[in-house]
Amino acid sequence: MARQAGRRLLDFFRSAHLHVETKLNESDIVTEADKASEEVILRMISEHFPTHSVLSEESGESFGDSEYRWVIDPLDGTTNFRSGLPFFSVSIGIEHRGETVAGVVYAPRLDEMFRGVRGCGATLNGSVIGCSSIATLDRAVVATGFPVDKNVTADNNLDNVGRLLPRIRGLRRLGSAAIDICYTAAGFLEGYWEMNLHDWDVAAGLLIASEAGCKSGEFRRDRNRSVVVAPPQLFDEISRELSTVPNRSEL
Ligand code: IPD
Ligand code: CA
Ligand code: CA
Repeated sequence: MARQAGRRLLDFFRSAHLHVETKLNESDIVTEADKASEEVILRMISEHFPTHSVLSEESGESFGDSEYRWVIDPLDGTTNFRSGLPFFSVSIGIEHRGETVAGVVYAPRLDEMFRGVRGCGATLNGSVIGCSSIATLDRAVVATGFPVDKNVTADNNLDNVGRLLPRIRGLRRLGSAAIDICYTAAGFLEGYWEMNLHDWDVAAGLLIASEAGCKSGEFRRDRNRSVVVAPPQLFDEISRELSTVPNRSEL
C-alpha cells in the first residue's frame, strides 16, 4: 500500500497541479497529493480488510467491527513536498487492540522503505537496521521540528533548541517526523524530539524505532504527541534538556 501510495505522490511531485490549501494557518497545508495518496490506501484497506477501523490524517476516523486499526499519514512532510524537497514519506501503522504490531514508512523519492514488525526487528530496504552506537552528545546529530502554532505561542520548541544546540555536533530539521524517527532507528541520527505531533505522524515510526533498539518516550502531555527518540545510551541526557509539562491531572 505504501509503495502504491508513494507512486501516486510522485505523479504530483514538482508539478504544477498541487492545489495547495491551508488548514490552521499558512504553515499547515494540504495538497491534492495528500488526498490522492490517502485515496489509494483507503481503497486498498476497504477491499482487503473491510471490517478494520482506520485513523487517517485527512479523512479522520472510521470505526469498523474489528480489533485492528490502521493509523495513516498519507503524506508526511507536505511542506517539503510543496517546495520540491525530497524528504517526504507515507506512514502506515497497524494496531491490534491498541498496540502497534507492524508499520512501514516509505520515502518514495529516496526509495527508502522502513519496516517494523513487533518482536521481529526493523529493516531498511530489506536490510536489518539498528540505532547508533555513538555514546556522547558532542558527537550526536539530532533532528527536531517546530509546531504549526509557532506563530501564536512562544511555546514553540526554541527553548529546547537553545539548550541542546550548544551540546551536540549538529541539529537538523528534515521536515518529516516519520523519516526523522526512522533515521534515528537506522543510526543516521542520534536522536529526534518534537512536540504537538499526532498519532499518524508517529505510529509506524515508533514501532520501527523500538524494533531497532531505540528508546522512545513522551516528554510532555499537554501538546498532543510530544516524542523523544534516541539510542538508549543518549536517551536520558537528551530527555533531561527538554521542557516537560506534567499531565493536567498532576498539576
Ligand atoms: C508534519 C511533518 C513535520 C512536523 C510537523 C508535522 P505533515 O506532518 O511531520 O516534520 O514538524 O509537525 O505536522 O503535516 O507534513 O503530515
Ligand atoms: Ca505528518
Ligand atoms: Ca500528512
